[in-house]
Amino acid sequence: MEKFTDTSAGRSLVPAMAPRCWRWWYWTAWPRTRPPPAGCTLSVRQQFSTQEQTPQICVVGSGPAGFYTAQHLLKHHPRAHVDIFEKQLVPFGLVRFGVAPDHPEVKNVINTFTQTAHSDRCAFHGNVVVGRDVTVPELREAYHAVVLSYGAEDHQALGIPGEELPGVFSARAFVGWYNGLPENRELAPDLSCDTAVILGQGNVALDVARILLTPPEHLEKTDITEAALGVLRQSRVKTVWIVGRRGPLQVAFTIKELREMIQLPGTRPILDPADFLGLQDRIKEVPRPRKRLTELLLRTATEKPGAEEAARQASASRTWGLRFFRSPQQVLPSPDGRQVAGIRLAVTRLEGVGDTTRAVPTGDVEDLPCGLVLSSVGYKSRPIDHSVPFDPKLGVIPNMEGRVVDVPGLYCSGWVKRGPTGVIATTMTDSFLTGQMLLQDLKAGLLPSGPRPGYVAIEALLSSRGVRPVSFSDWEKLDAEEVSRGQGTGKPREKLLDPQEMLRLLGR
Ligand SMILES: Cc1cc2nc3c(=O)[nH]c(=O)nc-3n(C[C@H](O)[C@H](O)[C@H](O)COP(=O)(O)OP(=O)(O)OC[C@H]3O[C@@H](n4cnc5c(N)ncnc54)[C@H](O)[C@@H]3O)c2cc1C
Ligand SMILES: NC(=O)c1ccc[n+]([C@@H]2O[C@H](COP(=O)([O-])OP(=O)(O)OC[C@H]3O[C@@H](n4cnc5c(N)ncnc54)[C@H](OP(=O)(O)O)[C@@H]3O)[C@@H](O)[C@H]2O)c1
Repeated sequence: MEKFTDTSAGRSLVPAMAPRCWRWWYWTAWPRTRPPPAGCTLSVRQQFSTQEQTPQICVVGSGPAGFYTAQHLLKHHPRAHVDIFEKQLVPFGLVRFGVAPDHPEVKNVINTFTQTAHSDRCAFHGNVVVGRDVTVPELREAYHAVVLSYGAEDHQALGIPGEELPGVFSARAFVGWYNGLPENRELAPDLSCDTAVILGQGNVALDVARILLTPPEHLEKTDITEAALGVLRQSRVKTVWIVGRRGPLQVAFTIKELREMIQLPGTRPILDPADFLGLQDRIKEVPRPRKRLTELLLRTATEKPGAEEAARQASASRTWGLRFFRSPQQVLPSPDGRQVAGIRLAVTRLEGVGDTTRAVPTGDVEDLPCGLVLSSVGYKSRPIDHSVPFDPKLGVIPNMEGRVVDVPGLYCSGWVKRGPTGVIATTMTDSFLTGQMLLQDLKAGLLPSGPRPGYVAIEALLSSRGVRPVSFSDWEKLDAEEVSRGQGTGKPREKLLDPQEMLRLLGR
């Protein structure tokens, strides 16, 4: 039971109040200026020492970083209350809108996040865009601490001529489209061409290549949107090139994802053995995961497949290939200038050693004809608010282990803290660390003292601005609707794409 003790008087301030009544008094009293309870001469600040009693913390963003930070805070502080603000009507960030539909096992983390959301010390407030509907200074005023976990919502531009041509898409938008991100639901990429080029050799590039090339019937039982499935069924794309500016030793994808590509039904890989010359000796020096990955690439490029694999490859109707040492220089237009017709690539060579290896142009170029270009060179965070420092070069909020530099009480976690790389497990570790720093600061008395109103104050602000947040139980209604819509076609869910329809379903 929480004890509210007037230490100087040595007696309880509200001895007659049961804890629940006390909470009611505390909540309803805010935001009016409260006189101290009768007979008490202490200031409100001294009475409650709320920071120790009930720290009010808010987290911005409900992706893995937001939920793992909340989980850590709730687990390690017995009274902390955490409000999670999310701009979408639905939670879970890239777990819903990024992770590929054919990787359902990755989405199991949603069960853990749901447990966190069900805590009576945690509340989800969707449909609230921080930076627009409510500012970070307003949140800081209302809470003892604010954690920014809003991810990386933009894509890294290529910065080359022709990037804006129809037929050029960021992988971010393409992924958002097949995963039902409301802002990308109208993307409708034209897949009537024979060849697609993906720029970048990370795991997102492989996700996109796999979705483009997987026989659509294999995606029918996933949560890919029906609209995307319809377009993929009509696709005429036969060849996908995945282009890297550096070499096989520098690819950013991982072995599990490469293996999946190599075994993708109905497809065969094309790798140029010349790209792998001299690599056999060099891989001895590299760390084990990179060594295993490069060995798999090397085997695929240079070894003759066994009879069964050779037969499988011979019957494949689609191909995919890795092109190395090619840096995008210009997107080439069709003769009428209205559509992409190809990509000009600068041939590169490597300079430097180890992590500092850089691709430098040799002066040669190569034109690769294609009707679709997907740029998969990374995501990018945006600044959220003028009050929050932001490093535009690194695309992160400057921080020391999650403490935002020069702004006490402000923290960050996830991709906005360390940049747009790392899997969910990496994001979990760094979010736990941020949570730990916050709790350390709380314990050390470094956070604002005195009570903070938390959501009560923000709710009033949002209401005055006509913003109507949705709760976690609202999400559970939408979730049930999606699951029910998927049942007819044997899918785990059919995602709702239109925020207006979602609000209507919630009776708004
Ligand atoms: C295409 C893709 C596929 C991936 N697949 C895998 C995989 O298979 N396995 C794996 O382990 N990892 C995968 N990852 C990596 C993983 O998704 C990330 O590590 C993780 O999602 C980062 O978490 P985050 O919370 O920082 O960002 P996010 O997941 O992006 O969450 C940020 C949240 O903040 C919200 N937000 C943004 N701005 C605001 C605002 N102004 N106000 C309120 N809310 C806001 C967003 O809507 C979002 O919900 C993938 C990444 C991508 C891009
Ligand atoms: N299945 C999974 O586990 C999964 C799925 C998807 C994503 N993820 C994770 O999510 C994170 C983000 O993935 P990502 O693929 O977006 O990023 P990434 O891993 O950083 O890969 C980006 C790729 O783009 C290239 N690139 C960057 N700038 C370029 C430029 N200007 N011109 C040409 N090429 C350029 C990079 O090459 P250089 O190396 O030369 O810079 C690299 O090949 C990663 O950590 C990834 O592992 C995981």
